[in-house]
Amino acid sequence: MDVLDLARTQFAVTGSLHFLFVVLTLGLAPLVAIMHTRYAVTGNPIHERMTRFWGQIYVTNYALGIFTGLVMEFQFGLSWSGLSHYAGDIFGAPLAIETLGAFFLESTFLGLWIFGWHRLPKWLHLACIWLVTLTAHVSAFWIMATNSFLQNPAGAVERGDHLVLTDFGALLTNPTLTMALPHVIGAGLWTGGFVVMGASAYHLFKRTSEREFFTRSLRLGVITSFVGSLITVGFGYAQFLPLSTLQPDKFEASALTGASLGAMIGIGQLLQLAIMFVLMPVVYWLPRWRWAQPILMVITPLPFLAAILGWLVRETGRQPWLIYGKLTVADALSPGLTSGMITTSLIGFAGVLGLLAVVDYVLIARTVRRGPAAVTLGADGPADSTERAHALSY
Ligand code: HEM
Repeated sequence: MDVLDLARTQFAVTGSLHFLFVVLTLGLAPLVAIMHTRYAVTGNPIHERMTRFWGQIYVTNYALGIFTGLVMEFQFGLSWSGLSHYAGDIFGAPLAIETLGAFFLESTFLGLWIFGWHRLPKWLHLACIWLVTLTAHVSAFWIMATNSFLQNPAGAVERGDHLVLTDFGALLTNPTLTMALPHVIGAGLWTGGFVVMGASAYHLFKRTSEREFFTRSLRLGVITSFVGSLITVGFGYAQFLPLSTLQPDKFEASALTGASLGAMIGIGQLLQLAIMFVLMPVVYWLPRWRWAQPILMVITPLPFLAAILGWLVRETGRQPWLIYGKLTVADALSPGLTSGMITTSLIGFAGVLGLLAVVDYVLIARTVRRGPAAVTLGADGPADSTERAHALSY
């Protein structure tokens, strides 16, 4: 492989590993916020236990995933200085806003939520998890706005040797953004729902003592994936509309792009049909069907796979362009790089990010296996209002 292919491989590997964390964060945040809202409204302790259990899985994924995002930003300077020089004036701002959102606002609200258990007033504490959810999705918006600019450089004109932004509104209403953002948000819900569903199926299959907890969780997981699948598939097909005029030869450009597009749609359609015609109608009986539970466990990783395939389609399909019609990938490569340099950083990044992904799934699997009784999030006080009142009476 030459330097260019190595640098592209490095971005594809790190981007894919990073997105494994992102897609689960996007899906689990609203789920945990909904569980917390149900607890705040009803005061039912099972909703508190569900919030803390699935919340701990969310926090684990967020904490390990944040480092993988730093590597992505770092690579713009390392391998793609041509892109920063040519279009940094435009995509620098949304990327910086995203970083501020994800690293400062989201993590601040998440910190307040984690340490606010039994300390913050009920509604303020609930507001924190909704703000985490909101900032996560606002971050997704800015990243997708940046990526969509590379797909279709709307609102910019060339001045001298670089692009300048002339229409901020066009950057934010880019047709490759308005269809792709809901597609990604739907994919997140689908993935989060599948993780909740698969983990719940594990406990029901093992016949642990938490039957009610995981029956409720499994139902919520199926309903969430159902909603996610409607959004994902609807906006998935809708994406072909802007692409037919903006990047008309995208899916015929290479056999690889066509084959991965086919795989993503295949996985998506198959799972959606299964959710719509099998899982949703029988959601109330599903927890009792032991034979179905291993199937639910085995299919848990499929939305992750479809999401990575989706990104490979979106990115490989516009080759050789980095900014469609304006800047080629070859012209964006930093000067002076050698194969040795990129190989070294590729091995380093892939090794560290791969290890983080493995650690993430091992920790999540351990939390799932140990069950709600072993959760540490919010465990530094009485578990629910009844216990709190009981504790105060002593
Ligand atoms: C019938 C099912 C589906 C259709 C028709 C579809 C369609 C598409 C298309 C056309 C693209 C490329 C857009 C571009 O190049 O600009 C794409 C990308 C993508 N897809 Fe799908 N997709 C489907 C299922 C899924 C599923 C099940 C997931 C994950 C759960 C997923 C996640 C993604 C992601 C993350 C991207 C990259 C970002 C984006 O372009 O939105 N897709 N999809």
